[in-house]
Amino acid sequence: MKKAIKYTILLGGLAVSAKCNNVSSEYDYVVVGSGPGGGPLAANLAREGYSVFLIEAGGNHGDELLQQVPGLADVNSEDPEMSWQFFVSHYQNETQARRDRYFTYRLANGSLWYGIDPPEGATPLGIYYPRGATVGGSAISNAMNVVLPPPADFNYIANVTGDESWQAENLAQYFTEFERNTYTEPGSVDHGYDGFISTNRNNISYIADRPGVLRVVQNAISQTENIESPSQEEVIQLMERDLNRPDADRYEHPGVYQIPLHIDENRRRSSPWNYISDTLAETSSNGSALYPLTLSTHSLATKIVFTNDGKGNPVAKGVEYIVGEGLYEADRRYNASVQGTKRVVKARKEVIISGGAFNTPQILKLSGIGPRNELEEHGIPVVVDLPAVGEYLQDNYEVPINMRSQIPWENSPFAECTGSGDAETDPCLAQWEEGYGAYGEGAAPIFMLYRTGQSDNNDADLIIFGAGGAVFDGHYPGFSTVQWPPTSFFWTAVKMQNRNPTGTVRLRSSNPREVPEINLNFYKEGRDADVAALAEGLEHLLSIMNVTGEPYAPFDIIDPPAEISLEQHILDHSFSHHVSGSCRMGREKSTSCVDSNFKVHGVDGLRVVDGSIFPRAPGGFPVGATFLISQKAFHTILADA
Ligand SMILES: Cc1cc2nc3c(=O)[nH]c(=O)nc-3n(C[C@H](O)[C@H](O)[C@H](O)COP(=O)(O)OP(=O)(O)OC[C@H]3O[C@@H](n4cnc5c(N)ncnc54)[C@H](O)[C@@H]3O)c2cc1C
Ligand SMILES: *[C@@H]1O[C@H](CO)[C@@H](O)[C@H](O)[C@H]1NC(C)=O
Ligand SMILES: *[C@@H]1O[C@H](CO)[C@@H](O)[C@H](O)[C@H]1NC(C)=O
Ligand SMILES: *[C@@H]1O[C@H](CO)[C@@H](O)[C@H](O)[C@H]1NC(C)=O
Ligand SMILES: *[C@@H]1O[C@H](CO)[C@@H](O)[C@H](O)[C@H]1NC(C)=O
Ligand SMILES: *[C@@H]1O[C@H](CO)[C@@H](O)[C@H](O)[C@H]1NC(C)=O
Ligand SMILES: *[C@@H]1O[C@H](CO)[C@@H](O)[C@H](O)[C@H]1NC(C)=O
Ligand SMILES: *[C@@H]1O[C@H](CO)[C@@H](O)[C@H](O)[C@H]1NC(C)=O
Ligand SMILES: *[C@@H]1O[C@H](CO)[C@@H](O)[C@H](O)[C@H]1NC(C)=O
Repeated sequence: MKKAIKYTILLGGLAVSAKCNNVSSEYDYVVVGSGPGGGPLAANLAREGYSVFLIEAGGNHGDELLQQVPGLADVNSEDPEMSWQFFVSHYQNETQARRDRYFTYRLANGSLWYGIDPPEGATPLGIYYPRGATVGGSAISNAMNVVLPPPADFNYIANVTGDESWQAENLAQYFTEFERNTYTEPGSVDHGYDGFISTNRNNISYIADRPGVLRVVQNAISQTENIESPSQEEVIQLMERDLNRPDADRYEHPGVYQIPLHIDENRRRSSPWNYISDTLAETSSNGSALYPLTLSTHSLATKIVFTNDGKGNPVAKGVEYIVGEGLYEADRRYNASVQGTKRVVKARKEVIISGGAFNTPQILKLSGIGPRNELEEHGIPVVVDLPAVGEYLQDNYEVPINMRSQIPWENSPFAECTGSGDAETDPCLAQWEEGYGAYGEGAAPIFMLYRTGQSDNNDADLIIFGAGGAVFDGHYPGFSTVQWPPTSFFWTAVKMQNRNPTGTVRLRSSNPREVPEINLNFYKEGRDADVAALAEGLEHLLSIMNVTGEPYAPFDIIDPPAEISLEQHILDHSFSHHVSGSCRMGREKSTSCVDSNFKVHGVDGLRVVDGSIFPRAPGGFPVGATFLISQKAFHTILADA
């Protein structure tokens, strides 16, 4: 129903257009990528008066319904004009890889097919992995859950870099700078109220006023927090505990929470798009642009340009890019015979790469920064031999349980939605336009912290989300159009404390339009402990559901299936969409990519600011940590300017 919404409808308002990008060809800073890493950084630097050229491969669609309406996030993440479709390998072991029910093939006639027994002649592609490719990056496609990681994950950066400024307690200021909190009373020193990313939460009534869902949450609280039969009021109180409160031990309290979302008080998605658009739109009294930000959309960066400093050291001086729509192979509109227009832009001060954890290592390698053997194999002249580029890729494993109740979960807020794309005929859209109702909600209303016997410390090592009347079963082509029955209930366990930094992003060729080969190498390291942690989490969830009772139970359990072991099922059905680590931060050039000031080892004038710098996946949801490091990078760059 809601999935059918047309995404071409504009919300009124003026479309924000990219400025003419050849007015000047030299800027103080050139930033590649407008996601949570690069987007806010570009806007921040421009607001300080520096001229900034922001290169974004995708177009500018931020005022379209698909990007604005939180309830349409899934559809948006498969939209051909706003997202890229990668296919990744979970396993090198082909037998194991093809046990995944969503392993995808391309058929001879060009269409995609997923499943266990492919038709003859089908070409294996791998597992579909969406990424945002539009102004705002993956913060446009994502599920908007914004939660800071456990302090241990930042302290780990301080540890591996020896840089105290990365201690969690020294980072709180960056969170309050970027946050514009709408769900707590203004004035708390622990939150920001005039930043550029708005935060809000789901409507607690959509839990508390749904008897079946409430009963499940009550069971979850009893079994997770040892509170017997919590009342509706207690459930509300417990769920309203704030996962982004500053307490250093906040991950040490297993229990049920609502997660903060990057959604504003009118229930619109809040993302780097808003900040970039506002920065472009502000004018001085004579009507000219107030801030020297230039946004170049439909621009695919292909290579960093270097000079040297006279002593033989490379210095980043600019970026080559090609202009055109759908120029990257991961774009569903890709046509190899359509050529882009080549351009070069120069940077007086610095080049900053923020293409995200798949594209940043690709751009560096295309520019001659990466493992020598790989570059030479593709005929790319070596600028810096940097083995860590494209290595140490890692992700949060996710594994769901999925079941059907005897009756529909009552009072679904989505029951009235028609998905017609027209407020006249879709009451949910009409409500959303007024700032309330189902379309303003994040898809996962229930969150839970759970500590398994495998946790490395006192923190929860799983963050679990769930909902009644819906299913999240990972990504596969067309996932956003699947209709789940109103009797569905799912929980998905997200594994924190990553033990497997063994993924890789490797070039297939020196062609910048071709997607790299991405291997996540699931469970290559730490397999027994990680599988055991997930299994313990799934058992806990099954046990919560088990006591729900009539009229909901007995449940028809779809996942995990009864006929194979839980461990094998976890291997067969783990998925992920939070990549990080492919240009990790560290001290040594031999094992890391950037230093603790975001500078690429061995080059001057070049930094990386995005999810690829994390030496360990930050918590269970990376976007908050990525906004935070973007803000830290802004201060670091200012101090050096
Ligand atoms: C479907 C989905 C759901 C998610 N849900 C959540 C969630 O609920 N909570 C959470 O914390 N995280 C979530 N994430 C992850 C989160 O959105 C990302 O971790 C975050 O956006 C990463 O920010 P980034 O700046 O590193 O990269 P991105 O956001 O990916 O931004 C990179 C940008 O660079 C552009 N780019 C790339 N290469 C080039 C090039 N060569 N030239 C020009 N431009 C280029 C891309 O078009 C893109 O706009 C989700 C991700 C997806 C895909
Ligand atoms: C920008 O470049 C295009 C083609 O390269 C040219 O036609 C156009 O006049 C230029 N615009 C400006 C403002 O220089
Ligand atoms: C590959 O995976 C299959 C299925 O899990 C397993 O039975 C087999 O032992 C694996 N092979 C190797 C070499 O690990
Ligand atoms: C391609 O072939 C498959 C399997 O025969 C079929 O289901 C599908 O409709 C075909 N697609 C197109 C675009 O013809
Ligand atoms: C990093 O952690 C290790 C052990 O966990 C410890 O021995 C070491 O002193 C720490 N280093 C720094 C710089 O904090
Ligand atoms: C407009 O005002 C700004 C200062 O606010 C000035 O820098 C700029 O040159 C002015 N532009 C024009 C066209 O007068
Ligand atoms: C790709 O582009 C070429 C050149 O413009 C065109 O002739 C061809 O029809 C396009 N192919 C597709 C599948 O659109
Ligand atoms: C919250 O949910 C209740 C119904 O349970 C509804 O009346 C109210 O309008 C909702 N508020 C918002 C902001 O969606
Ligand atoms: C569910 O409850 C039944 C009956 O009490 C019990 O036999 C079964 O083991 C339970 N299952 C789980 C997963 O807890």
